[in-house]
Amino acid sequence: MTPKFFATRAHLLVCQGPNCQARGSGLLQRALWNHLEQSALAYYKKGGSLRLTESGCLGACSYGPALCVYRAQPGGNGALEQAWYAAVDFPLARRIAQAAHEEGPLPGDHRYGPHEG
Ligand code: FES
Repeated sequence: MTPKFFATRAHLLVCQGPNCQARGSGLLQRALWNHLEQSALAYYKKGGSLRLTESGCLGACSYGPALCVYRAQPGGNGALEQAWYAAVDFPLARRIAQAAHEEGPLPGDHRYGPHEG
């Protein structure tokens, strides 16, 4: 039996470390999951493209909830693009997900860590 392959455009990770959990990352993860489901953005939905995973500490413990996203650079040569966000609320998480799905520019606010520009 061959496993079914689902195309993925981007992978979002929401920190579930203790500091981020104390700042609501559990609720953020559930809200974002529900949004991906209901908006058919989840990779296993028809036309969907996003994966969402809980992660361990992303190194921004004092500024959580933290979220990072990885994707192939749109229109690029297959290079990996990454963006890391601190103090993420649901509206920002939704904007990040939408931009990742549409292969548009990722939001520039609340970014930290390695990124260009
Ligand atoms: S606990 Fe979330 S960044 Fe460290």
